[in-house]
Amino acid sequence: ILASSLVASSVSAKEASPTVPDDFTSIWSRQQAEKVALTQQNTAPKIDTNFNLVAPDQWVWDTWPLENRDGSLAIVNGYRIAFALVAPRTYSWGDRHTHARIGMFYSKNGKDWTYAGVPYNTDKALGHHQWAGTAMLDEKGKVHLFYTAVTDMNANGGKEWSDENWLQRAEQRIATTTFDINAGKDGVNLTNEGEHKIILQADGKLYETIQNFNGNSITAFRDPFFFHDPNTGKEYLIFEGQAGTNYPLTPENIGDEVYRRTHSLPAGAEKYTGMIGIAEVLDHDVTKLKLLPPLLDSIGANQQLERPHVVVKGDEYYLFTISHTFTYATGLTGPDGVYGFYGKGGIRADYKPMNGSGLVIGNPASNPYQAYSWLVLPNQQVISFINEPRDANGQVKFGGTFAPTLKISLNGDKSEITGEGKPGEIKPFGANR
Ligand code: FRU
Repeated sequence: ILASSLVASSVSAKEASPTVPDDFTSIWSRQQAEKVALTQQNTAPKIDTNFNLVAPDQWVWDTWPLENRDGSLAIVNGYRIAFALVAPRTYSWGDRHTHARIGMFYSKNGKDWTYAGVPYNTDKALGHHQWAGTAMLDEKGKVHLFYTAVTDMNANGGKEWSDENWLQRAEQRIATTTFDINAGKDGVNLTNEGEHKIILQADGKLYETIQNFNGNSITAFRDPFFFHDPNTGKEYLIFEGQAGTNYPLTPENIGDEVYRRTHSLPAGAEKYTGMIGIAEVLDHDVTKLKLLPPLLDSIGANQQLERPHVVVKGDEYYLFTISHTFTYATGLTGPDGVYGFYGKGGIRADYKPMNGSGLVIGNPASNPYQAYSWLVLPNQQVISFINEPRDANGQVKFGGTFAPTLKISLNGDKSEITGEGKPGEIKPFGANR
């Protein structure tokens, strides 16, 4: 209580007027998700299979830049810094997930990146391996790394007895550590690694745990995104979760009354329980958090709302998340893409799917898995990684490197792809405002 009141009093409180109750959870319904379709505005340009590798001996995927506390791009002695999941290419493409670490990259021009290796002691890091997160540079020059500590699903750590079967599931918890950062003529390195701490875990009621698993083969409690709300000064971690026991499927998850007269729920669709979770940060060091009810759920529509993140323009809140074709519930489909939800007045808002359906950028139908893990930055640049593009003969080539950065425009609840930059290109960007 003391810590939270300190934070509250230290902010220049320009309280945003709340428009919804504190426990309000927006819904991405089946009716809305049914409208998802590729258009000229949201279809990504084709990715060539002739790409260069940013780190030739590593698979590289989910990527995030080092940002200042206010969400602007951190520039340290002229260097931009990015973190990404990495695994040696000696592992297979599929096995990379179970051997993931967080690697560091730096660049002076935001186009040519140098791979600087894994910046932490892998014996001190939590979990058998580490998944996505974000990184924040505080006002004292400390780097805070937020990541997902994951158990080994091939070992007992991730196995659960369910419906008389052993299921291989990796338990995920949210962790953090800190570093000092040094940037000079020899590049960038992190030193003085702090203790690694678990700061957030699923509770079963709001967010599903391995123990209250509902029968869907995917579980998630991961991908922390650090967010400083420019309108209130409050801080949060936003993350991917699935519905805990407090969140059964409701009629609104299917659609409105008129829609429900002609559409029922296909069998099994209730097992798709994607959620965008949120926890309030209670201390300045970002080690004490309080789980809050989810910002948005896609129960009955989609199982995975991965790597959720936020862009703020005045009192407009854009909530973005990535999702896959294969995680849509029975009877629905959509491309691997980044989806957006538009709300007003505060981080907890009555979010509506952007462009009517939610789809902001999708892979082209002819190249459906060419890229993934888009991250929309405050200046509307969108980074992602090359996933499984196809060549002219339809042959898939595994990527594992930075994809060309896309540029989008955001206009109220509408978006449009407006341009394409270099692979991994990140131009300096200012704070969320
Ligand atoms: C998205 C994702 C993240 C996770 C990581 C695991 O590409 O599934 O949600 O942190 O990849 O490799």
